[in-house]
Amino acid sequence: MEMDWANLGFQFRPTKSNIRFHYADGKWSEGKLYNTYDITISVAANVLHYGQAAFEGLKAFRCKDGKVRIFRPEENAKRLNSSARHLIMPEFPVERFVEAVKTVVRDNIEYVPPYGSGGSLYLRPVLFGTTPQIGVSPSREYELVIMTVPVGAYYKNGIKPVESMIARDFDRAAPHGTGHIKAAGNYAASLISSKKAKEQGCPVALFLDPASHTYIDEFGTSNFLAITKDGRYVTSQSDSILPSITNKSLMEIASDFGIPVERRKVRVEELADFAEVAACGTAVVITPVSKIYDGDKVYSYNAETVGPVMKKLYDRMTGIQYGDCEDIHGWMVEA
Ligand code: PLP
Ligand code: COI
Repeated sequence: MEMDWANLGFQFRPTKSNIRFHYADGKWSEGKLYNTYDITISVAANVLHYGQAAFEGLKAFRCKDGKVRIFRPEENAKRLNSSARHLIMPEFPVERFVEAVKTVVRDNIEYVPPYGSGGSLYLRPVLFGTTPQIGVSPSREYELVIMTVPVGAYYKNGIKPVESMIARDFDRAAPHGTGHIKAAGNYAASLISSKKAKEQGCPVALFLDPASHTYIDEFGTSNFLAITKDGRYVTSQSDSILPSITNKSLMEIASDFGIPVERRKVRVEELADFAEVAACGTAVVITPVSKIYDGDKVYSYNAETVGPVMKKLYDRMTGIQYGDCEDIHGWMVEA
């Protein structure tokens, strides 16, 4: 197995195995490791027509001491269950989820990028309904698969800033819809805005609250985060955004540094007042945003590099993940 560990990017690459659980007759099966990516389901399966599917994203890191640790897997288990409840899918026990993650990481240990490469092993759990049906109702059978992909930076420039564009034509989620869960359909709904943003040279679209289009919701694949000129941490509060585990952790790190944290509604015009803006999430970690276009308007931030406060947060976060800093919050779980 030959890998260019320092230049993985964020793309699908096959690994040794994925772990699968099947739900039927009201219970989950034992997990089984598969050495194939293929799966046989009916063309009438619920997921293909009615979209009963939710996913997760978390990472395992090769730490300084050589051990492999997973970042906050319990949080992903809980969020998967919140998605499952909303989409009328069966929940999966949190402890079994964490065990499954450990098992699949251990089986794919050779795919965890080396310490110092900047990479990690991305874990992608996906839960979907497989019952053949034509009437709209919840599936009776489900599959939970956790696959693994070695990854580097999500955007090809690494921690270098990206430009963004406010999506004015379409929303990714409806008011009181599915924005607060990780429904697969949210991502299908965001593709049209992402396509438009990319055509304008922006790798990421920024969505507004779908009810009033007055407040900032989040980016298509990550939460919105800003630092004010007087050094406060500001992030959006909205019932149509995904509760990011990265953002939640960064808020704790900010508090550790004595940085005031404000989780509140953020008006679009406030974009003019911020010193630093970034996208945060498992895949993007903290990706600084240098410009946000909104029609003819453009908001500009540090063009060349990551801002000083974001850098501090990034260093502490990745320091904890790779074992360079003490894990004072007890976030890392050994595989
Ligand atoms: N918002 C959206 C829409 C996402 O897809 C993600 C990625 O999972 C996030 C936010 C960040 O969440 P987390 O930090 O838990 O990865
Ligand atoms: C993640 O950050 O884990 C995500 O799921 C975002 C994206 C790749 C859809």
